[in-house]
Order: sequence, then structure tokens, then C-alpha cells
Amino acid sequence: MNRFEPNLRIPGPTSLPDAVREAGARQMVNHRGPEFAVLQNRIIDRLKTFFKTQNDVLIVTAAGTGGLESAIVSFLSPGDKVLAVTIGAFGDRFAKIATVYGADVTKQSYEWGKAAEPAKVAEALAAGGPWKAVLLTQNETSTAVTNPIAELAAAVKAAAPDALILVDAISGLGAVPFETDAWGLDVVVSGSQKAWMVAPGLSFVAVSPRAWEAAAVAKMPKFYFDLAAHKTSAESGQTPWTPAVAVMFQLDVALEMMEQETLPEIWKRHTAVGAAVRAGLQTLGFKLLADPAFASDTVTGAWLPEDLDWKAFNGKLRKLGLVVAGGQGALKGKIFRIGHLGHVTVPAILNAMAVLEQTLIELDRPVKPGAAVEAAQVAALRALGLAK
Ligand SMILES: Cc1ncc(COP(=O)(O)O)c(C=O)c1O
Repeated sequence: MNRFEPNLRIPGPTSLPDAVREAGARQMVNHRGPEFAVLQNRIIDRLKTFFKTQNDVLIVTAAGTGGLESAIVSFLSPGDKVLAVTIGAFGDRFAKIATVYGADVTKQSYEWGKAAEPAKVAEALAAGGPWKAVLLTQNETSTAVTNPIAELAAAVKAAAPDALILVDAISGLGAVPFETDAWGLDVVVSGSQKAWMVAPGLSFVAVSPRAWEAAAVAKMPKFYFDLAAHKTSAESGQTPWTPAVAVMFQLDVALEMMEQETLPEIWKRHTAVGAAVRAGLQTLGFKLLADPAFASDTVTGAWLPEDLDWKAFNGKLRKLGLVVAGGQGALKGKIFRIGHLGHVTVPAILNAMAVLEQTLIELDRPVKPGAAVEAAQVAALRALGLAK
């Protein structure tokens, strides 16, 4: 056991603020009683401000994948034509869920590291149809790329105005700019263990009036993940099934913290930590996976040089208290990823850079002590407008 608290730099679950951890230890309440109704209503009101929506926001006790599944089964029918735009492992997963439930899925895949292109999406939509839905990923955690959702949604609206736009915003919403209503998004899914600084266990789903119309005729089989049942229960301050009450206690505290920090300041902090990680890793000689124009401010992926063994490298990082993530799918053993979302500060990133420097020095690689830390700090200061 490591007696020092590790610097948990994976793209979720994130570390938790102390007050959030403590909130999870509270005594239970009756989830069919008035205390729970007050709690859930307060959480939903606050979530709406972060989702930037007037639409319904529902809380589903499930991993993010459950939120995605609820988005598919609640609004679609077997045989519906769906365009799944995928730029990585999580886009592929969203497409797979739709396929498993019998949608007629056309996949538009991009080279990993690249963002989706609005013109190509419009082209694919024009070539087929009629489309019931388009699946998009806001922030592809496996490749550390943030898609231009506003532009992609505009392209969908122009080419296939009747298609519902379903967005996996699990690893970006609450950390980087996002506009559910202004961008005309029908269904938006996020997950508690990401920008929201709470334990895993809840997903949040925003649903537009247009999507509710689709729900009324949707025929995919569903039970636990029926969002219409969640809406009916939420109207009386409840959930259809026993919710993860402890995680909701945590979320209540975390949302208050986020409200105090304010959304523009949260976005600024993520811009700073994203810039810091990218600059530090490049100074250490790592090549980044993401197209720089679409690099994510919540996670960064870097190629492992061929002569750097992932297991040995990761083992040394862990001994020094830095926990990073490996690659997923085809990128397993080829890249590593650093998460920088939610409960994250620039000093936590500088610590990560110091550990990376020491590890690489231990592995006899040519690294100048302090260089990555300095580059990361300068990049963060520039992002904050505090350095030229
Ligand atoms: C973009 C994205 N989509 C979906 C998921 C799946 O979420 P969960 O692991 O909570 O099911 C993740 C988790 O990392 C994610 O980052």
C-alpha cells in the first residue's frame, strides 16, 4: 500500500474534493420521502444550468454506458436509420449499442486522433436516409479529441432536419464549453465520475421535447433504462428504481462548489491544465495523438516511443505516486493518457510532470530536470493571461 495519496490522473473516475467524499458517508434517507425529492429537484435545477438547457434532465443510476443505452432504447425503434459518427472507442460503443438493439446503423469512422468533419457528416446524411438519429461524441476519451459539436449539429440540422441528435458528452460536459439548447441537441448524456467530481454511479440525460415525441412511438425493448419512466417518477421527486443516494449526496455538494467557482472559471481552469499537459509532454519528447486543433482539455493522449516499455514505465510512475491511463482498443500499449478534468489544478499537473521527469531520468532517457515542469507552468500561465 502506498501511504502517499496518489496523483490520480486518469480520465475518470477523478479524485474527489474532501467535502464531496464526506458527503458520501451521510446517513441514508427515504428515497420515496420528501428529503429525497428536495435533494433531487435541487440537483436537477443545477444540472440544467451546467447543461445550458431548459429541457428535462433525468438522473439514471448507472455507469455512463447505461446513460447511452437509455438514450438509444428510449427514443428509437428497431430498423430506424441511424448515422453513428465515431472518432474512437466510445463512438464505436455508442454505435454498437444502437446495433445491438436493432437500429439500422451506418458508421462513419475517422482516423483515431482526428475530429469529425461537418461537411463529411452532411455528405453521408445526403447520401442516405430518412435518418431517425445521428450519434455524436463530444469528447472522445480514447483519443483525447474534442469534436466541434456546434458545427456538427448545424450540419445535421441542414442535411437531415428531422434527425434527432444524440450526444455522448460523458467526459467533457461540465469542464469545457457546451450548449445543449443553443446547439439544438436532443439528447445529451454525461456521467458522475468525470467533470462532476463525484464517485461513479450516476448518469445524467437531457431530453428535448422533440425527443419526447419520438419516445411516444419508440419500440425498442426497455425496462430499467426507460427514460419515460424516469420522467414520470421525477415529476413526483422520485426515481423509478432505488437510486445511488450516496452519490447524489456527493453530487449536491460538488454542484454547489461548481456553482461557486462559476462555469467560465471552470472552463478557464480546464484550458490552463490542458495547455500545461500538452506543453509538458512535448517538452519530454512525447508526440501527442490528437490533432492540435481539436486537442481535448480534459484528457491528453501521447504516443509511447517504441523503445519505452509501457509496463516498466507505468510501474515506475505508480511507485512515485502518479496514476495515468493506458491506451484502449487498437491503441493499447501504444499510447498513455493523462486525465485532467473535474477536481484538477495546475499544481497537480506540475506534480505529474515532475514525476514523469524523474521516471524518464531513472530510465536513462535524456531529460533536463525541471524543463517539463517549467514548460507546463508557462503554458498554463499563458492560458490564464498571466504570461506572454
Ligand atoms: C466519452 C465516453 N463515453 C462513454 C464512457 C463510458 O462511461 P462508463 O465507463 O461510465 O460506462 C466513457 C468513460 O470513460 C467516456 O469517456
